[in-house]
Amino acid sequence: MNGMKKNNIIFSLFVLVSLCVAFQSCDSKREPGKIYMPDMAYSRAYVAYAPNNLASENIKYIPWPVEGTIRRGDLFPYILPNDSNGYKLSAQVKDPLPPLNSTQMKEAARLFNINCAICHGEKMDAQGPLSTGGKVPAVANLTLAQYIAMPVGTMFHSITYGKNNMGSYASQLSREQRWMVIQYIKAHQAGLNIATASSDANSASGTDSTKTK
Ligand code: HEC
Repeated sequence: MNGMKKNNIIFSLFVLVSLCVAFQSCDSKREPGKIYMPDMAYSRAYVAYAPNNLASENIKYIPWPVEGTIRRGDLFPYILPNDSNGYKLSAQVKDPLPPLNSTQMKEAARLFNINCAICHGEKMDAQGPLSTGGKVPAVANLTLAQYIAMPVGTMFHSITYGKNNMGSYASQLSREQRWMVIQYIKAHQAGLNIATASSDANSASGTDSTKTK
Protein backbone atom coordinates (compact mmCIF):
# COMPACT_ATOMS: atom_id res chain seq x y z
CA MET A 1 0.00 0.00 0.00
CA ASN A 2 2.70 2.44 1.06
CA GLY A 3 4.80 1.64 -1.96
CA MET A 4 1.81 2.26 -4.21
CA LYS A 5 1.26 5.71 -2.67
CA LYS A 6 4.93 6.52 -3.06
CA ASN A 7 4.78 5.51 -6.72
CA ASN A 8 1.74 7.72 -7.23
CA ILE A 9 3.52 10.70 -5.70
CA ILE A 10 6.61 10.07 -7.80
CA PHE A 11 4.47 9.76 -10.90
CA SER A 12 2.59 12.99 -10.12
CA LEU A 13 5.88 14.81 -9.60
CA PHE A 14 7.14 13.42 -12.89
CA VAL A 15 4.03 14.69 -14.72
CA LEU A 16 4.38 18.10 -13.06
CA VAL A 17 8.04 18.43 -14.02
CA SER A 18 7.30 17.27 -17.56
CA LEU A 19 4.56 19.86 -17.93
CA CYS A 20 6.87 22.59 -16.64
CA VAL A 21 9.54 21.61 -19.12
CA ALA A 22 7.02 21.33 -21.95
CA PHE A 23 5.49 24.71 -21.35
CA GLN A 24 8.43 26.78 -20.25
CA SER A 25 9.21 27.72 -23.83
CA CYS A 26 5.64 28.87 -24.35
CA ASP A 27 5.54 31.57 -21.68
CA SER A 28 5.94 34.31 -24.24
CA LYS A 29 3.67 34.49 -27.26
CA ARG A 30 6.28 36.31 -29.31
CA GLU A 31 9.42 34.33 -28.49
CA PRO A 32 9.56 30.90 -30.08
CA GLY A 33 11.99 29.74 -27.39
CA LYS A 34 15.03 27.63 -28.12
CA ILE A 35 15.36 26.60 -31.77
CA TYR A 36 17.23 23.36 -32.33
CA MET A 37 16.03 22.78 -35.91
CA PRO A 38 16.22 26.14 -37.63
CA ASP A 39 15.07 24.71 -40.96
CA MET A 40 11.75 23.94 -39.35
CA ALA A 41 11.43 27.17 -37.38
CA TYR A 42 12.30 29.29 -40.35
CA SER A 43 10.75 27.63 -43.37
CA ARG A 44 12.68 27.73 -46.60
CA ALA A 45 9.43 27.51 -48.51
CA TYR A 46 8.85 30.43 -50.85
CA VAL A 47 6.07 31.83 -52.93
CA ALA A 48 6.21 30.63 -56.53
CA TYR A 49 6.92 33.39 -59.05
CA ALA A 50 7.71 35.87 -56.27
CA PRO A 51 11.17 37.45 -56.40
CA ASN A 52 13.53 35.24 -54.44
CA ASN A 53 17.22 34.81 -53.71
CA LEU A 54 17.35 31.07 -54.31
CA ALA A 55 20.36 31.45 -56.59
CA SER A 56 22.38 32.99 -53.78
CA GLU A 57 21.40 30.05 -51.58
CA ASN A 58 22.76 27.78 -54.27
CA ILE A 59 19.40 26.15 -54.97
CA LYS A 60 19.19 25.23 -58.62
CA TYR A 61 15.51 25.74 -59.22
CA ILE A 62 14.25 28.37 -61.63
CA PRO A 63 10.49 28.29 -62.15
CA TRP A 64 10.55 29.94 -65.58
CA PRO A 65 12.34 29.07 -68.80
CA VAL A 66 15.92 30.23 -69.24
CA GLU A 67 16.07 33.57 -71.03
CA GLY A 68 15.83 33.22 -74.79
CA THR A 69 14.10 29.83 -74.61
CA ILE A 70 10.47 28.75 -74.57
CA ARG A 71 8.72 25.73 -73.13
CA ARG A 72 8.22 22.83 -75.50
CA GLY A 73 5.06 23.44 -77.48
CA ASP A 74 4.66 26.97 -76.17
CA LEU A 75 3.86 29.96 -78.37
CA PHE A 76 6.57 32.54 -78.95
CA PRO A 77 6.89 35.11 -76.19
CA TYR A 78 4.92 38.32 -76.41
CA ILE A 79 7.47 41.08 -76.85
CA LEU A 80 5.52 44.34 -76.91
CA PRO A 81 6.34 46.38 -73.80
CA ASN A 82 3.86 47.22 -71.08
CA ASP A 83 3.53 50.91 -71.91
CA SER A 84 1.22 53.16 -73.92
CA ASN A 85 3.16 52.60 -77.13
CA GLY A 86 3.06 48.83 -76.66
CA TYR A 87 -0.69 49.08 -76.06
CA LYS A 88 -1.13 51.02 -79.30
CA LEU A 89 1.02 48.60 -81.32
CA SER A 90 -0.78 45.58 -79.86
CA ALA A 91 -3.75 46.30 -82.13
CA GLN A 92 -1.64 44.88 -84.98
CA VAL A 93 -0.92 41.58 -83.21
CA LYS A 94 -2.70 38.63 -84.80
CA ASP A 95 -4.13 35.57 -83.10
CA PRO A 96 -1.57 32.78 -83.75
CA LEU A 97 -4.11 30.00 -83.15
CA PRO A 98 -6.34 28.41 -85.77
CA PRO A 99 -10.08 28.72 -85.02
CA LEU A 100 -11.00 26.59 -82.02
CA ASN A 101 -13.05 23.47 -82.50
CA SER A 102 -16.04 22.88 -80.25
CA THR A 103 -14.07 20.96 -77.62
CA GLN A 104 -11.44 23.69 -77.43
CA MET A 105 -14.16 26.35 -77.34
CA LYS A 106 -15.72 24.57 -74.39
CA GLU A 107 -12.36 24.60 -72.64
CA ALA A 108 -11.99 28.31 -73.44
CA ALA A 109 -15.42 28.95 -71.90
CA ARG A 110 -14.33 27.04 -68.80
CA LEU A 111 -11.16 29.13 -68.52
CA PHE A 112 -13.15 32.34 -68.91
CA ASN A 113 -15.65 31.33 -66.26
CA ILE A 114 -12.92 30.40 -63.80
CA ASN A 115 -10.64 33.38 -64.34
CA CYS A 116 -12.72 36.21 -65.69
CA ALA A 117 -16.41 35.77 -64.90
CA ILE A 118 -15.91 36.74 -61.24
CA CYS A 119 -15.66 40.31 -62.56
CA HIS A 120 -16.88 40.29 -66.15
CA GLY A 121 -19.78 37.93 -65.54
CA GLU A 122 -20.53 34.76 -67.49
CA LYS A 123 -22.44 36.86 -70.02
CA MET A 124 -19.48 39.29 -70.19
CA ASP A 125 -21.78 42.16 -69.24
CA ALA A 126 -19.76 43.20 -66.17
CA GLN A 127 -22.26 41.53 -63.84
CA GLY A 128 -19.79 39.27 -62.07
CA PRO A 129 -20.04 39.17 -58.26
CA LEU A 130 -16.91 41.27 -57.66
CA SER A 131 -18.33 43.90 -59.98
CA THR A 132 -21.94 44.00 -58.74
CA GLY A 133 -20.72 43.69 -55.14
CA GLY A 134 -18.69 46.85 -55.67
CA LYS A 135 -15.37 45.20 -54.83
CA VAL A 136 -13.88 46.01 -58.23
CA PRO A 137 -15.11 49.24 -59.80
CA ALA A 138 -15.26 50.04 -63.52
CA VAL A 139 -15.21 46.48 -64.84
CA ALA A 140 -15.36 46.52 -68.63
CA ASN A 141 -18.67 45.42 -70.11
CA LEU A 142 -17.36 43.29 -72.96
CA THR A 143 -20.73 43.29 -74.71
CA LEU A 144 -20.44 47.02 -75.50
CA ALA A 145 -19.63 48.16 -79.02
CA GLN A 146 -16.20 49.51 -78.07
CA TYR A 147 -15.13 46.05 -76.86
CA ILE A 148 -16.80 44.27 -79.76
CA ALA A 149 -14.66 46.45 -82.02
CA MET A 150 -11.54 45.92 -79.89
CA PRO A 151 -8.74 44.14 -81.80
CA VAL A 152 -7.77 40.73 -80.41
CA GLY A 153 -4.17 41.92 -80.03
CA THR A 154 -5.27 44.73 -77.72
CA MET A 155 -7.20 42.24 -75.63
CA PHE A 156 -4.16 39.98 -75.46
CA HIS A 157 -2.01 42.91 -74.36
CA SER A 158 -4.39 43.88 -71.54
CA ILE A 159 -4.93 40.29 -70.37
CA THR A 160 -1.17 39.71 -70.40
CA TYR A 161 -0.17 42.86 -68.53
CA GLY A 162 -3.39 43.80 -66.75
CA LYS A 163 -5.08 47.18 -67.00
CA ASN A 164 -6.04 49.48 -64.12
CA ASN A 165 -8.25 47.37 -61.82
CA MET A 166 -7.63 44.19 -63.77
CA GLY A 167 -4.52 42.20 -62.92
CA SER A 168 -2.19 40.35 -65.27
CA TYR A 169 -3.15 36.81 -66.26
CA ALA A 170 0.28 35.95 -67.64
CA SER A 171 1.06 33.54 -64.80
CA GLN A 172 -2.43 31.97 -64.54
CA LEU A 173 -3.02 31.37 -68.24
CA SER A 174 -0.45 30.25 -70.82
CA ARG A 175 -0.18 32.32 -73.97
CA GLU A 176 -2.23 29.70 -75.79
CA GLN A 177 -4.93 29.76 -73.11
CA ARG A 178 -5.10 33.57 -73.27
CA TRP A 179 -5.68 33.42 -77.03
CA MET A 180 -8.28 30.69 -76.52
CA VAL A 181 -10.16 32.87 -74.04
CA ILE A 182 -10.06 35.75 -76.53
CA GLN A 183 -11.57 33.53 -79.22
CA TYR A 184 -14.29 32.67 -76.75
CA ILE A 185 -14.92 36.38 -76.05
CA LYS A 186 -15.04 37.14 -79.77
CA ALA A 187 -17.36 34.23 -80.45
CA HIS A 188 -19.62 35.36 -77.65
CA GLN A 189 -19.55 38.92 -78.92
CA ALA A 190 -20.37 37.77 -82.41
CA GLY A 191 -23.56 36.38 -80.95
CA LEU A 192 -22.87 32.90 -82.22
CA ASN A 193 -24.91 30.04 -80.94
CA ILE A 194 -23.08 29.85 -77.63
CA ALA A 195 -25.29 32.02 -75.47
CA THR A 196 -25.76 29.21 -73.00
CA ALA A 197 -22.21 27.92 -73.17
CA SER A 198 -21.02 29.68 -70.06
CA SER A 199 -23.53 28.19 -67.66
CA ASP A 200 -23.16 24.77 -69.23
CA ALA A 201 -19.40 24.91 -68.90
CA ASN A 202 -19.69 25.89 -65.26
CA SER A 203 -21.93 23.02 -64.35
CA ALA A 204 -19.73 20.69 -66.40
CA SER A 205 -22.86 19.17 -67.79
CA GLY A 206 -21.03 17.97 -70.86
CA THR A 207 -23.77 19.06 -73.23
CA ASP A 208 -22.90 20.16 -76.70
CA SER A 209 -24.22 23.68 -76.62
CA THR A 210 -20.75 25.23 -76.88
CA LYS A 211 -20.62 24.15 -80.52
CA THR A 212 -19.98 27.18 -82.62
CA LYS A 213 -20.68 25.43 -85.94
C1 HEC B 1 -10.70 41.58 -60.78
C2 HEC B 1 -11.69 41.79 -61.80
C3 HEC B 1 -11.34 41.35 -63.21
C4 HEC B 1 -11.02 40.08 -63.63
C5 HEC B 1 -10.96 38.83 -62.79
C6 HEC B 1 -10.80 40.18 -65.03
N1 HEC B 1 -10.98 41.45 -65.46
FE1 HEC B 1 -10.90 42.12 -67.37
N2 HEC B 1 -11.21 43.98 -66.75
C7 HEC B 1 -11.45 44.38 -65.46
C8 HEC B 1 -11.55 45.82 -65.40
C9 HEC B 1 -11.81 46.64 -64.16
C10 HEC B 1 -11.36 46.28 -66.72
C11 HEC B 1 -11.36 47.73 -67.20
C12 HEC B 1 -9.91 48.19 -67.30
C13 HEC B 1 -9.87 49.64 -67.71
O1 HEC B 1 -9.97 49.91 -68.91
O2 HEC B 1 -9.77 50.47 -66.81
C14 HEC B 1 -11.15 45.10 -67.53
C15 HEC B 1 -10.94 45.14 -68.91
C16 HEC B 1 -10.85 44.05 -69.72
C17 HEC B 1 -10.70 44.09 -71.16
C18 HEC B 1 -10.57 45.34 -72.00
C19 HEC B 1 -9.09 45.70 -72.03
C20 HEC B 1 -8.78 47.03 -72.63
O3 HEC B 1 -7.69 47.12 -73.23
O4 HEC B 1 -9.56 47.97 -72.48
C21 HEC B 1 -10.67 42.79 -71.58
C22 HEC B 1 -10.54 42.31 -73.02
C23 HEC B 1 -10.74 41.95 -70.42
N3 HEC B 1 -10.86 42.74 -69.30
C24 HEC B 1 -10.71 40.58 -70.44
C25 HEC B 1 -10.54 39.80 -69.30
C26 HEC B 1 -10.27 38.39 -69.33
C27 HEC B 1 -10.16 37.55 -70.58
C28 HEC B 1 -10.18 37.98 -68.05
C29 HEC B 1 -9.84 36.61 -67.53
C30 HEC B 1 -8.64 36.01 -68.04
C31 HEC B 1 -10.41 39.15 -67.21
N4 HEC B 1 -10.62 40.22 -68.01
C32 HEC B 1 -10.44 39.11 -65.83
C33 HEC B 1 -11.57 43.56 -64.37
C34 HEC B 1 -11.31 42.20 -64.37
